Amino acid sequence: MKNVIITGANSGLGFETAKKIAKDKDYRVILACRNDEKAKQAMADITAATGNENTDAMKLDVSLLSSVRKFAEEYIEKYGTVNVLINNAGISSMRESGTTAEGFEVVFATNYLGHFLLTLLLLPHFSDVGRIINITSDMHNPPGGIEWQGVEYLAYKAMADRRRYAYSKLCAIYFTHKLDEILKSRESSVTVNSFNPGFMAATNFSGGHADKLRSFAVKTTMPERYGELGSSSDALTRIATEEGFSKVSGEYFDRSVNTKRSSDLSYVKENGEELWAKSLEYCGIKGY
Ligand SMILES: NC(=O)c1ccc[n+]([C@@H]2O[C@H](COP(=O)([O-])OP(=O)(O)OC[C@H]3O[C@@H](n4cnc5c(N)ncnc54)[C@H](OP(=O)(O)O)[C@@H]3O)[C@@H](O)[C@H]2O)c1
Repeated sequence: MKNVIITGANSGLGFETAKKIAKDKDYRVILACRNDEKAKQAMADITAATGNENTDAMKLDVSLLSSVRKFAEEYIEKYGTVNVLINNAGISSMRESGTTAEGFEVVFATNYLGHFLLTLLLLPHFSDVGRIINITSDMHNPPGGIEWQGVEYLAYKAMADRRRYAYSKLCAIYFTHKLDEILKSRESSVTVNSFNPGFMAATNFSGGHADKLRSFAVKTTMPERYGELGSSSDALTRIATEEGFSKVSGEYFDRSVNTKRSSDLSYVKENGEELWAKSLEYCGIKGY
């Protein structure tokens, strides 16, 4: 039995991917969600659709480091090993703002920092051929571009900055690159990649903003940013499970099983180093 953890798996990309992976009864899918009721419903729907009884819903509010620690402890106690971790939960800066109870900017905390800690806590428990997939977005490179502002700005001060989402997804890519470098230097066979699903109108992400008109506009004017929930969840399922991807690491998958280069900014090494060092500090991890 292979264990797959998907954060934010009660709707959208996480849910569709969980359902597709669960079709193979060799996989146990663990839905790591902040809302118990929605998580239980998603679990029941997946079992009903696939006949796979090996699904579980576990409480995780990934925006809070305390919740991440609790989840990791309970998960290890219950299941012991991880085969695949999909860091999928995400929020838009158009819809949520403010700081978490722990004082971090909420989009940075949810889309990046919580997943950073979750990954590092689970890493010693990965199977030899484990896979980590960070869900990012082509909006890591928004129209007009962004400039690096330093980690402190993103973690605490970006309250009125509409680019908070873009920065959080850029951080996810820096995380992929740095973790890949560390895993390779340790000759680990665990892989880590970024996945961009593209603009998907059929999820809860934009909360109704992604109506038919907007979806049509993106498809026709920015086809390179347009995605479909069906094809993106198909691709994510394949990257997470197919043997052919077991050795691919450090890549950026673009709405498919094809890789491409992410933005030039995402390869600036000193930014990634700064982010790594600050993230360890924020999470209270020494000597990684
Ligand atoms: N849709 C797009 O156009 C698009 C484009 C590029 C990238 N993405 C990325 O794709 C991923 C999935 O998004 P989606 O489009 O499938 O949207 P979605 O349907 O809104 O799914 C997001 C999931 O994340 C969960 N979540 C949010 N905050 C959380 C927290 N603090 N702790 C735990 N779970 C939390 C949500 O739970 P609740 O139901 O409780 O809110 C929901 O299950 C995100 O990382 C997003 O940034 C989406």
